[in-house]
Amino acid sequence: MKKIKLGLLGSSGRMGQEVLKAISSNFEVIFELDSKNFSQFLKLKNKPSVDVWIDFSQPEVLKSFLKYLKLNPAPIVSGTTGLSLALEKELEGLSKITAVFWAPNMSIGVALVAKALEVFKGHQQYDFQIDEVHHKHKKDSPSGTALFLQKKLDSVLGHKKTPAPLATRGGGVFGIHRIQALSDEEMITIEHTALNRSVFAKGALWAASQITKKKPGFYTMKDLI
Ligand SMILES: NC(=O)c1ccc[n+]([C@@H]2O[C@H](COP(=O)([O-])OP(=O)(O)OC[C@H]3O[C@@H](n4cnc5c(N)ncnc54)[C@H](OP(=O)(O)O)[C@@H]3O)[C@@H](O)[C@H]2O)c1
Repeated sequence: MKKIKLGLLGSSGRMGQEVLKAISSNFEVIFELDSKNFSQFLKLKNKPSVDVWIDFSQPEVLKSFLKYLKLNPAPIVSGTTGLSLALEKELEGLSKITAVFWAPNMSIGVALVAKALEVFKGHQQYDFQIDEVHHKHKKDSPSGTALFLQKKLDSVLGHKKTPAPLATRGGGVFGIHRIQALSDEEMITIEHTALNRSVFAKGALWAASQITKKKPGFYTMKDLI
């Protein structure tokens, strides 16, 4: 079987290393990019072609990379969080010419939690609060996942109701997200805990294998599961 030629942006990072560990024999890694070789890569002439890119880097790195991808289109799976609205728009712009998959959380569990929030449609008696806990090295706060769940709740409730998520940073926590619905007489808690980082790496590799077959467009977890 023909191997999928993969480029990895953020290869030396916590997530990049996890992707390299999780990689299966149907992928062949063509580029591993980090802060030491990224500028050189951009200047390289006649680069070998890549079937799909996976990106776990930082918003400013992704921003530079999008300029490259506009000139050298190839599908991309990005899990980088903390994107500005402008950068989100740039990703959407790229999706007009190639398949773009972006998810602030690559686990199927969080996609299922987002779906579960739909049960609150029409139930206006609850006050909501989202909170999240992550390791002390995480740069964005609140997490992209918490903001995604907040957006999802707002769309389910039909108006902006959910307060800003609360964030705790400390230790080595891979990611805990909790949604609380509180009324005068009851309280519902929905919680997702990532037990390791490989769940995100495997999700990204799976998305990469899927979007190589897709037409240009913007895809996220709910489109693929
Ligand atoms: N979607 C998800 O499921 C999910 C899950 C976990 C994390 N994330 C997100 O993924 C991103 C990465 O997380 P992480 O924990 O892996 O971060 P990390 O350990 O800090 O790794 C960041 C990576 O980006 C590279 N980088 C930084 N500056 C660069 C530059 N100027 N040029 C090229 N490469 C550069 C780093 O290279 P050096 O090592 O050379 O500096 C490193 O490889 C974050 O946005 C995080 O929130 C998403």
